[in-house]
Amino acid sequence: MISEKMAKALNEQIALEGKASFLYLSMSSWCDQAGLEGCTNFMRRQSEEEHEHMVRIFDYLSEVNQHALTPAIPQVPHTFESVQSLMKEVFAHEQKVTASINNLIHLANEENDYTTLNFLQWYVVEQREEEALMRTVLDKIELIGEGPMTLYYIDKEIAAINTQQLEAEQAETE
Ligand code: FEO
Repeated sequence: MISEKMAKALNEQIALEGKASFLYLSMSSWCDQAGLEGCTNFMRRQSEEEHEHMVRIFDYLSEVNQHALTPAIPQVPHTFESVQSLMKEVFAHEQKVTASINNLIHLANEENDYTTLNFLQWYVVEQREEEALMRTVLDKIELIGEGPMTLYYIDKEIAAINTQQLEAEQAETE
């Protein structure tokens, strides 16, 4: 059994993961309208991953006999200034999620809640990987710079990163 305070904090994390899922889905749709197929697929996959992160906490709360609450998701933006600023926004959101996971770990430590501490380790690894992924994306965007074919090259690079990620995931499940 975990404390009510811990359950509340985990329900807040559910809301944050849900918001990320909707934000990334919205970004995917904006990329689609901009004709950026690689970015569309990349953001769609990110959105699906965030949904999984959310459901993972639902399942955990249920397992420890707590009530997982479906969150209200505030309206996320539908338009973005550019694909470059969109990717920066993703990185910033991931940093926010990492900080939130760290706060949960702090709370679990304070409460000597070893079950939740153990559960949260998966998120520690996931956040390290997601931040590294977004740093790679931003580095590529920086390298490509500004030019007449910028969007074409960015989309191509993001498509390649997406394929690498998919292949890595498939290899893990084999
Ligand atoms: Fe689930 Fe990318 O934070």
